[in-house]
Amino acid sequence: MKVAERLNKIPPYISAQIDKKIAELRKKGVDVVTLGVGDPDLPTPDNIIEVMEKAIWEPAYHRYPDYEGSIEFRKAVAEYYERRFDVKLNPENEVMALIGSKEGIVNLTYAFVDHGDYALIPDPAYPVYKTATLFAGGIPYTMPLLKENNFLPDFTKIDTDIARKAKLMFLCYPNNPTSAVADKKFFEEAVEFAKTYDIVICNDSAYAEITYDGYESPSLLSVKGAEDIAIELGSLSKPYRMTGWRIGYAVGNRDIMKALGRIKTNVDSGQFTAIQKAAVEALTGPQDSLKELRSIFTARRDMMVSALKEMGFDVSAPKGTFYIWAPVPEGYSSMSFSEMLVEKAAVVVIPGNAYGEYGEGFFRISLTTPDDRIKEAIKRMKEIF
Ligand SMILES: Cc1ncc(COP(=O)(O)O)c(C=O)c1O
Repeated sequence: MKVAERLNKIPPYISAQIDKKIAELRKKGVDVVTLGVGDPDLPTPDNIIEVMEKAIWEPAYHRYPDYEGSIEFRKAVAEYYERRFDVKLNPENEVMALIGSKEGIVNLTYAFVDHGDYALIPDPAYPVYKTATLFAGGIPYTMPLLKENNFLPDFTKIDTDIARKAKLMFLCYPNNPTSAVADKKFFEEAVEFAKTYDIVICNDSAYAEITYDGYESPSLLSVKGAEDIAIELGSLSKPYRMTGWRIGYAVGNRDIMKALGRIKTNVDSGQFTAIQKAAVEALTGPQDSLKELRSIFTARRDMMVSALKEMGFDVSAPKGTFYIWAPVPEGYSSMSFSEMLVEKAAVVVIPGNAYGEYGEGFFRISLTTPDDRIKEAIKRMKEIF
């Protein structure tokens, strides 16, 4: 059997690799603490499940869903954008349901990147922007996210010849893996740059609501002119603890949306309408569970950040995401540090280089593990540092 050449261009998916390692250790009877994958440990809130319980009995929902999402779901997303960001969207043609935002990243790339086209990809980054570009036959051009630039790309450093040829740029704020946030001024610079070079911008805002200490992340779409060239991808996975449900959305420029829709109608047939119904409840129903999630993660963040500082790590409390991005101690690479932690403490963190070459020298901790397990991880790490 000979698989397609494109499979040889991409490294194995990091979460799958980590899951395999954890399974191996557990098989040997090791009590592993995983601070790896960003999948909230808390269950989906009751009000969302209750809506699903009823919706699942609706025969109309057992048929093929609307490709672009139910109008009720699209209106709920538009209402959320207006309430949260003061951005007005037409639910008819500026909002589309996704089977999780990961799907949107891949299909958007297919919609804009042809063989040999450049896509501007942050590094370190959620790996899917790059792999989707490679799948589409495109060329990923790295935008380094450096600590000295607060993990924001520096558009002045992008080769102008490449910028002219680039079709698509991915941003992700609040950022996975660095937990950096972007202000509106940065988004204004991004829009100006993209307009200059006629590049479609996509801000992956999967963590828009995972924020702390009263910080509210802005939307790329709130920038003047963004409606001409930008879209934002959103996800219900993290804020509403719905990673297994697979529901997200794309919002923004209607021509971009149309192109994405053309790919999607040929690839998938939409998301189960009952799930969209539950997602409407998530977006428009009581938001107490989101407040609870933020306070749980704030406490975990504070616990981990202060422990890391005591151990001598150079970290500060992030304003967004449930990740801590920390430099490895002297003498270690990202990989040797992560391996040492697994071997000596059975604590799993993700080596920064898994997110790209500029992630080298860092490791990522995810706080999506119960408090007692985080305490256990800290206890074990303190025996080493
Ligand atoms: C930056 C980023 N974007 C997108 C996703 C995918 O989210 P979804 O569950 O909506 O597909 C993740 C998941 O970890 C992520 O970290």
